[in-house]
Amino acid sequence: MSDRKPFLGGNWKMNTNRTTGSDLARGVTDGLISVDGVEPALFPPFPYLLTVRAILRDRGSSIRLGAQDVYFQPDGAFTGEVSVAMLRDCGTQVVLVGHSERRHVLGEKDELINRKLRTVLESGLDAVLCVGETLDERTAGHQDIITARQVKTGLADIPASYLERLVIAYEPVWAIGTGKTATPQDAQDAHAQIRQLIERSYGKDSAQRLRIVYGGSLKPDIAPDIFAQPDVDGGLVGGASLNAADFVALAKAAAAAGRAKR
Ligand code: PGA
Repeated sequence: MSDRKPFLGGNWKMNTNRTTGSDLARGVTDGLISVDGVEPALFPPFPYLLTVRAILRDRGSSIRLGAQDVYFQPDGAFTGEVSVAMLRDCGTQVVLVGHSERRHVLGEKDELINRKLRTVLESGLDAVLCVGETLDERTAGHQDIITARQVKTGLADIPASYLERLVIAYEPVWAIGTGKTATPQDAQDAHAQIRQLIERSYGKDSAQRLRIVYGGSLKPDIAPDIFAQPDVDGGLVGGASLNAADFVALAKAAAAAGRAKR
């Protein structure tokens, strides 16, 4: 039993251009027109936020507009960065924070991720906090410690009232973009562990309401088994979100899994 509405994010990363991104947004919007029971969100690159927003608006779509990152300062001399006010100005509703590529390619640390997360939630926007262990950490048997550290430090000084607008994405780094997926049981174990951590810090009610989604090489064929797990509330999708038919199929699978848990 779960009242949590599944979330499905399409993280386009540094892919698409104005033409292919527009086609993709139109394809996803049209494909999801009569699909309910899932909260889809698209995370295009910054330069295409307004283009995708216009497509969603024109079609009266309830798909949420997301940004892949943000900086925590409100304005100033931070060349190359983007503020939360700028994202709001472009119609962004939800922001990814702490994606594994930000952590491991761009070198972001837990403290920076926490400042970004606080900035997003304080501004009233929704956030997706991404956590997950690397292959070395998993091989050493440290996955629980790593995930726990990322969740705890990521959520430092974040009050319970903000959790309503937060999704946590468990994305084992070794599964991102590699074609390797966690087994449904591994995903369930990690999600249950995260929910327990939230329960210890914020209480049972908050933990039961929080959506925790899986990410890492999700594809329409394997996703239903993962989405069916009791503590998995949808997904964050990279590669497969670049194909409208795949993303639509994943959204339908997430909606069906959500219905089966009610
Ligand atoms: P992937 O990416 O689906 O391509 O593995 C997932 C993610 O990075 O969010």
